[in-house]
Amino acid sequence: MRRSRNPKSDQLEEPPAALRAGAILSIDLAALAENYRILAGRAAAGVGCAAVVKADAYGLGVDRAAPALSAAGCRHFFVAQIDEGIRLRGLLPDAEIHVLGGLLPGLEDAFLAHRLRPALNSLGEIETWAGHARRQGEALAADLHVDTGMRRLGLPPDELDRLAGEPDRLAGIEVSLLISHLACAEQRDHPLNARQLADFRRARGRLPSCPASFANSSGVFLGADYHFDLLRPGVALYGSNPTPDRANPMRDVVRLQGRIWQVRNARPGETVGYGATYEATRPMRIATVALGYGDGYPRALSNRGQVFVDGRAAPVIGRISMDSTTIDVTALPERRVRPGALVDVIGPDNPIDAVAAAAGTVAYELLTHLGRRYHRVYVG
Ligand SMILES: Cc1ncc(COP(=O)(O)O)c(C=O)c1O
Repeated sequence: MRRSRNPKSDQLEEPPAALRAGAILSIDLAALAENYRILAGRAAAGVGCAAVVKADAYGLGVDRAAPALSAAGCRHFFVAQIDEGIRLRGLLPDAEIHVLGGLLPGLEDAFLAHRLRPALNSLGEIETWAGHARRQGEALAADLHVDTGMRRLGLPPDELDRLAGEPDRLAGIEVSLLISHLACAEQRDHPLNARQLADFRRARGRLPSCPASFANSSGVFLGADYHFDLLRPGVALYGSNPTPDRANPMRDVVRLQGRIWQVRNARPGETVGYGATYEATRPMRIATVALGYGDGYPRALSNRGQVFVDGRAAPVIGRISMDSTTIDVTALPERRVRPGALVDVIGPDNPIDAVAAAAGTVAYELLTHLGRRYHRVYVG
């Protein structure tokens, strides 16, 4: 049987995407650019500032973030994986793109084809890149990563000793940058900061001279000793506080607003949500907001988090579900809390670091888990 066409349905207009989505994620590109300028402005003349844009620019969308950073004056970009570098090359034909994850054998041609700089993390990687340079018959640029205390990536001390004693291992490699990564920079007084700095300086003195990069976001605020030639911030660009013991010098980049699906009353003794973990002790009004852990809103915020309505807090009650979160709106004006209205989940009243802390995590994780279902709006 053939279906009859409804001429009207052909003309039916979809409601706007912002209305269909359970939550709206606004990303302020002007604030991102301003944050880049704030960080770059911390450095002395002659010291550059890169941007770390791995993991899709910490979840905010590298396609929009990287060009905005480039327009703000950024020339050096760091990613973790080669595919991120390839994508970024498509966006920024002239940028210097550094790949922190290093060089796995078999990827040499891809690095060259896309003009990406591998951060060489071991003598093995150095050998691979030097061999490739010999075969190409030309010097090939790369970064050299030395481990000063992270014990994650970079030449460990014994490999650094061997390299310092046998500098010919670098023949054919044009070392564009010596890098290392701080483990505790956000804890200003942590003794590892000074130890890593001393080890980085020592490593620098033992290797052929080249520019150096050491400071992540918090490292930028540890002082000029930590700056070397190129700052390498990530998370502060996206609005997280690089100085947790002081006021946030960065501008908010992210605002997340959830849409109310339903509002209901609860009587004393009634419970809310999976596991019945919240019990009303008084007559209450409860609003159900259309975002949940399926959108990266951490389940750990169950009975702990809060959202804001016109600057007033509404606590999360009960467990966070995959698609929804229940909040106590008893104290809020009814006209403001109705189906379709928006509540602030992350924003000026509820900064990204505060939301992350309440969830027992960090802004890095919260940002990189921001949901795929959100309606994204880039402003500025
Ligand atoms: C090697 C390296 N450098 C710089 C950064 C940027 O760090 P942050 O986001 O803390 O500024 C990272 C991020 O993890 C990193 O792994």
